[in-house]
Amino acid sequence: MTHHPSRRSVLLGGAAAAAGLTVLGAPALAAPSRRLADPFTLGLASGDPSPDGFVLWTRLATEPLALDGRGGMPDRAVPVLWQVATDERFRHVVRSGVEIARPESAHSVHVEVAGLRPDAEYFYRFRVQGHLTETGRTRTAPAPGTMGAPLTMCFASCSHFGAGYFTAYRRLAEDDPGLVLHLGDYQYEYAARANEVREIVGPETRTLADYRLRHAQYKTDADLQLAHRVAPWLVVWDDHETENNWADEVPEQPDPAFLDRRAAAFQAYYENMPLRRTARPRGIDMRLYRRIGWGALANFHMLDTRQYRDDQACGDGTRVGCEERLDPTRTITGVEQEQWLADGLRRSRARWDVLGQQVFFAQRDLRVGPAEGFSMDGWDGYKANRDRVAGLLGQTRNAVVLTGDVHRHWAGEVLETWDRPDSRRVATELVATSVTSGGDGDDSDNAAVLAENPHLKFYSNRRGYVRTRFSASEMRADFRTLAAVRTPDAPATTAATFVVADRQPELHRV
Ligand SMILES: [Fe+2]
Repeated sequence: MTHHPSRRSVLLGGAAAAAGLTVLGAPALAAPSRRLADPFTLGLASGDPSPDGFVLWTRLATEPLALDGRGGMPDRAVPVLWQVATDERFRHVVRSGVEIARPESAHSVHVEVAGLRPDAEYFYRFRVQGHLTETGRTRTAPAPGTMGAPLTMCFASCSHFGAGYFTAYRRLAEDDPGLVLHLGDYQYEYAARANEVREIVGPETRTLADYRLRHAQYKTDADLQLAHRVAPWLVVWDDHETENNWADEVPEQPDPAFLDRRAAAFQAYYENMPLRRTARPRGIDMRLYRRIGWGALANFHMLDTRQYRDDQACGDGTRVGCEERLDPTRTITGVEQEQWLADGLRRSRARWDVLGQQVFFAQRDLRVGPAEGFSMDGWDGYKANRDRVAGLLGQTRNAVVLTGDVHRHWAGEVLETWDRPDSRRVATELVATSVTSGGDGDDSDNAAVLAENPHLKFYSNRRGYVRTRFSASEMRADFRTLAAVRTPDAPATTAATFVVADRQPELHRV
């Protein structure tokens, strides 16, 4: 080692620089001819905060749209330097190190940082050779038992790259959230289609290379990169990260290669998301459901309603008179996840128990008139499972279900007994519209379906996201909408605001 501080040691501080030099000392890595073009085309992200840390993510790709899914990266490991500081200018670096980006993980890195202060803001960045990322901002959760300040949490779902611009992500970032939830359909599997505003690269995703390329193309989006850069995210998938309406080992259409496809989709999802090592996939299995505590204020129970579910009843779709959906043995969560959720809800002493999940939870009769028609892909297709979970929600102090999937905003109340409109309310449900899926949308009010379901209080067919604010006394939800997504830069406005008071699971429009 030289006595003069290298640029690397200035960036990282002594111990980490030494570690970096050890790695860089391998001859194959040190050759000057191996210098990379800027590999930070996919941005950076953080996620799954704990009271003492979080996970930091980036993925190296000099050519993100390379059709082989390898992002233009050489077939060798690349050391990535990382830093965490308490200030934006990195004068006070509190953690740093080197993580190896390997070709078998698509040159992604997942750094689990620990030992930090609770309820605190941090800044982070990555460096490879002379290339430096922008600065990301993240935070730790409040310590257990501590109420902390009110939390602004924004959530979104259903971001199709071809259907529109990701303006909603930019507007969400401008709200300065402390936490962001993504509830699935982060990307779509389809090849390019007619009438899309941005061209999807690559075929319908089936192989690991396809999924890696698709994730890379999405991650090049500047609005999405910004949203990742301002706050930690909690992500869960829905169907399109793998394939439309898949259910455990059953694809939408018969496909003998589906399990290989599922394994490839899981691997690429892990590689491209700020997830902890506990989520690393093993073949066709990936443990995505998990709980994130936010002091005494909230518990976020993040669910996976795809990987363990029974196949959709009565052939999927919207069905009238489907008896199968009532079968008490049917499951959307799987037995283990339901038990895990039940344990977590029973033990919770949080002011708010929040379910971050994918599909419509409250009963929703989509058939106008005396007949009842239900979506078989949502919790209505798994009624007994839903009603057991609803019963558990009713035993918490406050429960809020967060939902994506349906490309519309909805707000509703969860009833203990669905055939009694005056039944006790056990929770509220906030459903976020899509970021882009479905295109610009319109101002239709869906009045007939709302009238059919008096517990559902709001509907909007515009694109956007939901901004929430959780405090000890109330939860406030602003349904944010954009007039257009097929053109860039639309402003966001609040289409409706609802408040839920402590211990009163009713929606009050303000
Ligand atoms: Fe979707």
